[in-house]
This record gives sequence, C-alpha cells and structure tokens, in this order.
Amino acid sequence: MENLDVLIPRPQSIIADPGVVKVESLGSVSAPAGWERIGGQLIRNAGIMGLDLTQEGVPVKLILSEDIKVESFEITISPDEVIISGGDPAGLFYGAGAFEQLLCISVIRGTKGAEIPCGKVADSPRFGYRGFMLDSARHIQSVETIKSVLSLMAKLRLNVFHWHLCDSQGYRAESKLFPELNTLADMTPGFFTAEEIKEICDFAAECFITVIPEIEMPGHSKGLLALHPELACDPEEPGKEFCLAKPEVREFLEKLIAEFAALFPASKVIHLGGDEAETEHWEKCPACQKLMKDKGLSNLRQLENDFMNDMASYVRSLGLTPVTWFTGSIMEHSTIIQAWRSIHELKETLAHGNRMIFSVHDQLYLDYPCTAAEPFENWMPLLCESGVYNTEPFAAWEKEIGDLLLGPETCLWTETVPDHRIFAKLLPRLIAFSETAWCRPAQKDWFSYIRRKDVLSAGAWFDMKAL
Ligand code: ACM
Ligand code: ZN
Repeated sequence: MENLDVLIPRPQSIIADPGVVKVESLGSVSAPAGWERIGGQLIRNAGIMGLDLTQEGVPVKLILSEDIKVESFEITISPDEVIISGGDPAGLFYGAGAFEQLLCISVIRGTKGAEIPCGKVADSPRFGYRGFMLDSARHIQSVETIKSVLSLMAKLRLNVFHWHLCDSQGYRAESKLFPELNTLADMTPGFFTAEEIKEICDFAAECFITVIPEIEMPGHSKGLLALHPELACDPEEPGKEFCLAKPEVREFLEKLIAEFAALFPASKVIHLGGDEAETEHWEKCPACQKLMKDKGLSNLRQLENDFMNDMASYVRSLGLTPVTWFTGSIMEHSTIIQAWRSIHELKETLAHGNRMIFSVHDQLYLDYPCTAAEPFENWMPLLCESGVYNTEPFAAWEKEIGDLLLGPETCLWTETVPDHRIFAKLLPRLIAFSETAWCRPAQKDWFSYIRRKDVLSAGAWFDMKAL
C-alpha cells in the first residue's frame, strides 16, 4: 500500500511518517470499558480478511480522548503500535471503520508481506446531520434490507435515517388504535410491527444513527382517507387531502401522531410531511372556506400553514421537534425545514431563522436514474454519481447560513423501486454522497474519489458489515 490517501470519506488531514507496520504483526486490540463491541467489530472484519487481531502482537489501542471533537477521530500508525482515538464513541466507531479500510487495501493480494505506511490521519465531519431517507410507504422493505441499509450508512458515516413510513399507498407503522390503516397495500402489502420497529431502531442506535420517522399530512393521504372518508372535505369524493377545518381531523391526527411517536422512544424529532397538498378540495369545502375567513387568512395556503403549525405545536407538546418539507409557507421558527424543490427554499427559510436540511431533488433524489439504461418515469432527470458527488450548493453562502443548515440528506422514493432493487439504486451514489456530507470542499476531488472507491470495492470493503 503506497500511502494513506485511500479512505472514503477522504480525511481532513493525512501526515506521512517514515516506516511501515506489517499487518500480520498486528494484534491485541484493546477498547475502552463499555465499548468493547467496537474492538470486537474490528477483530471480526479483520478476521474476514485473514488477520488475527486477537494474537500477541503490535497493539491496536482504541481510546476515547477529550481533546478530539464529537464524531471525530485520529489514527496514529507507528511500527510498534496503532492508536485509534475518538472524541466520543461515534468517533471511535468511525476511526475503527477507517482503519478497517486501511487493512482491506493493504491485504488486497493476501496478508503475506502486507503493510500499512506509518503516519497520522485526523478527521471530523463538516456537517452534524448526514441523512438518508428511505420510502417504505410505496414499496415496503424487509427488516433485513433496512438493517443492511443502516449498516452501509454506518460504514459511510451517515448518521440520520429519515424513515418515510406513511403515504397514499401505505401506513407502515403498526397502529393498534387504527388497525385498519395497516391494511393499505396499494403497491406492496405489509407493515412494521412495534417489535420490528424497535429492532430496527436498536440496530440504528448501535450504528450511531438517529431515526427520524415521518408521518404525512395534510396531503399524500389517499389510502387513509379512503378508509376514513369522514376526515376528508367531501366524504363522497375523499381525494388525498385531509379537511383542514373539521375538528375531528385534528383529534384523529393528534392521536395518530402520539401513537406513532411512542413507537420511536429514542427519536427526538418527528417529520410531519406537509409536501404537495393540493388546494382543490379545500376550495370547494364550505368548512375550510369559513375557517379561513374566521381566522382572517387571505388564502388556502395560509390555512394549510396554520394547520401545519398547529400540528407542529402538538409535536412540540410531546417534547419533540417537528420537521416539515418546505411547503411554500413559513413555519414557526423552531420547526426544521427540509428543502427539496430548489435552493430558493433555503434562501426563503433562512430569513425566518428556521434550521434546515438540504435535499434538493435534482441533486439528491436517488430514485432518479443513475444511467439512461434504467427504467424511469419520463419526467425524471438523470442523476449520475458525479452529480451527487459534486453537489455543493452551500459553499457560496455558508457564512450567511451558518449553523442553520444542519446538513444534506439524500432520498430514495420507491414508487419504482421494489425491495430487491434498493442497493442497485443506492450504490454507488450513496458512497459519493458520503463525501458531500462529510468532507469540506477542499477535501473533495472526483478523480481521487473514483480511484479510492475502486480500490476499496476491489478490497470488498463495501461488502463487509458495519455491525
Ligand atoms: C417530495 O419529494 N414530495 C418531498
Ligand atoms: Zn374542508
């Protein structure tokens, strides 16, 4: 192995020192008390590569260091020891993963004579929010597929799993209050039981991934309103939007949100959807028109915004933070806004001081085809790997936006993506996204990325499990 510039995401700092360490001489992994599993993980993946890190040998020490920032790590390689230091357990986990990358490249032709150059790698993320959204409402996935996705995310140091569980085609979180919702099966049948959700959330936590579950309103609710037409403006023709004026709609949604949130006790953030509601039904509804006038509002978008702000307040009353897609209206400022149609949504939101997530579709929607050979809807643009890699919308105005931009999130909608095609859609673009989310612009370089990705792929690094 020639040098240490082989890692994905590419580190902030690499310093070369003279000398090498022979990987066959490595052994004696030690880890901080309580975090032995991170050491165990390294031993397991090294074992897959033919290395025995439980033997007597050059020590590999995993330590926690107060001098290093959260999620950050340093790896120091010298002929007589390897030290992997993390600023917190997540940083240690990422550092151990980075060291696995060095191992897998050094042993690419076998362990005999394999060596790693001495030196020091130091790294920390650019963004604290590095998200991936999976739509489980259109096509549902198996628990195993979702765990594999989480494992891949962890290897790429992505730390937020936004789980789109409800849409017109399905309500995929178990509901004991409204079990009829779990019968929706427009594209695929099925839902996640409370036990399965717990299993997925526990697995995510071990991968240092936060889960943000999403429940949709007031649009994208066709299936649900077919089962509960009384909650639509016109029960004869329920459509896909809830009535904004009927008190029973708010009562129903509050009960549903409370039940939904309780399935995710570790989640401090709930996504309320809010995208793509059409005003057509509200226009024809006397109750919606009356409420708009009574509240002194001048149009139905303002009424929609008022409704979403009320729902967001309800989420806050549960001690949680709401997120919504950018709807075109301004949400109360503690609601996090996810921009998806254009950069201008961030610019509009910035003026109101809300925190933001960047998911602009033509740069980060992975349902869009990666190559022209893929089947796709006529309206979808192509989004190739370099398109995702080169997404760098914020550099020009990073100063103005400051901490309000939490980070980017890439999204996989699944209208055209059944379970078995999930990884065909994610790879390689999720790898490219990891550098968009983790690296500062100065660290990024497309040709370097292609080289590093090809070598890591040849070393089968992406095939190994994070847990
Ligand atoms: C969206 O793509 N409808 C958020
Ligand atoms: Zn109405």
